[in-house]
Amino acid sequence: MGRMSFAAVDLFSVLVTAVWAMLPAYVPNNAAVLAGGGRPIDGGRTWRGRRLLGDGKTWRGTAAGVLAGAALAVVLNLLRPSLSPVVGFGLPLFPPAAVVTLPVGAMLGDIVASFVKRRTGRERGAAFPLVDQLDFVAGALLLTLFAAPAWFGSVFTLPVVVVVVVLTPVLHVGTNVVGYALGLKAEPW
Ligand code: CTP
Ligand code: MG
Repeated sequence: MGRMSFAAVDLFSVLVTAVWAMLPAYVPNNAAVLAGGGRPIDGGRTWRGRRLLGDGKTWRGTAAGVLAGAALAVVLNLLRPSLSPVVGFGLPLFPPAAVVTLPVGAMLGDIVASFVKRRTGRERGAAFPLVDQLDFVAGALLLTLFAAPAWFGSVFTLPVVVVVVVLTPVLHVGTNVVGYALGLKAEPW
């Protein structure tokens, strides 16, 4: 770190830890967009005249998202020993529970949000600001908190959680605008 101040080192490690720990929860969305299609999870069922979840939540997209997120966590665990010295601090190691709950929680949060969107009259693809950007964060963090509380507490300190909540909407909107521009996504959100 050379002449970097302690405060700058702290901010650097908080930022890197936030992105590293959330990558297995970020990637499922993008994998679902790429792999989505086929049978919707709700099988077309409706409740009170509206779809339960809608055609935007499919089995294939969900499975691909979970697999991609879990695979990424395993890869990050393998890269950790060589990357920790590069960043100058110990990067988080994902325990088996977190390998599963970060992507599963992300997909569940997104599914719950679609359920809420349908109940509030929003059609598939309608924008729901902040919910669209943070549903998967809430799902991933909550499920991981319950499944691996000690690990959660050691990695997701208050500053890390604040960075995740502030930075995620920015990253999410950014990647979705790119996906839209590339023709991979129907809407830029
Ligand atoms: N997708 C999927 N399965 C999921 C999540 C996403 O197949 N569990 C795919 C779908 O093709 C979906 C696309 O990824 O259309 C974009 O995801 P998202 O923005 O979450 O869905 P929307 O189509 O916008 O639907 P909703 O209004 O329910 O969010
Ligand atoms: Mg959407």
